[in-house]
Amino acid sequence: MTQPTIVRTVAQMREHVRAWKAAGQRVALVPTMGALHEGHLTLIRLAQENADRVIASVFVNPKQFAPHEDFDAYPRGEAVDAEKLASVGCDLMFAPNASEMYAPGFSTLITVSGVSEPLEGAARPQFFGGVATVVAKLFIQSQADVAVFGEKDYQQLQVVKRMARDLDIPIEIIGAPTARAEDGLALSSRNAYLSAEERAAAVALPDAMKAAAQAVAAGSRVDEAEAIAVEALKAAGFRQVDYVEVREASDLSRLGPGPIGEAEGRILVAAWLGGTRLIDNMAVGQA
Ligand code: PAF
Repeated sequence: MTQPTIVRTVAQMREHVRAWKAAGQRVALVPTMGALHEGHLTLIRLAQENADRVIASVFVNPKQFAPHEDFDAYPRGEAVDAEKLASVGCDLMFAPNASEMYAPGFSTLITVSGVSEPLEGAARPQFFGGVATVVAKLFIQSQADVAVFGEKDYQQLQVVKRMARDLDIPIEIIGAPTARAEDGLALSSRNAYLSAEERAAAVALPDAMKAAAQAVAAGSRVDEAEAIAVEALKAAGFRQVDYVEVREASDLSRLGPGPIGEAEGRILVAAWLGGTRLIDNMAVGQA
């Protein structure tokens, strides 16, 4: 098992990228915050199908956490992450420290209006500015030809696509289907926070989305389908539902309240199980 080369500076990463590109190789980037799990490895494999070389960035980005959020508690483990990247043959791990990413006096924030405003943007006002800024930096730093993001963070994927398009960053962005545990729970680094009892209850999240998606496909009103999911989550012990909304799949504009008609929809959910906030989403449309 070959260990990925670990680099901590933009200059080092660019040296590798320059050599690969000089050899005519296509370069992929998979941005992560570490605490890697099978879902991330799926992204690396998809990146390998689309490029000759793959860089995984591992950086817990302080700018996308509000002061009361879990930045300090966010799971970290660089050695284990490097092992996991080695197990799938990832070429390079870019693990910068905060001062490499944000030099003293750093004062730029990228705001993507519209698509970043509802849902996660409303619940976590700091989030997408921080994500768009760090992802734009990673695109420019790595000069990758292609980047892979999970559909698990569906709104993030749409925000990143819009940001790259608006800023003319020459990179192809691929969304990877959400990797799920056998019972259907989306794989997430934050699942590590769940107790055994909460983990068992968490399956209600994908089940609630499926029930709502089936109702929409059968012609139910969107608001009724959303209510079905909210009720199911509450019955399963979720203590707070931040949102359950059926939105247009690409720009995330509001659909409903009536039947979805011909629109391509996406149901997006964020809900709290104990102290853990889980998010998930699923395609919805007429059968
Ligand atoms: O999805 C994540 O892990 C992060 O939001 C990302 C894209 C790596 C930016 O920090």
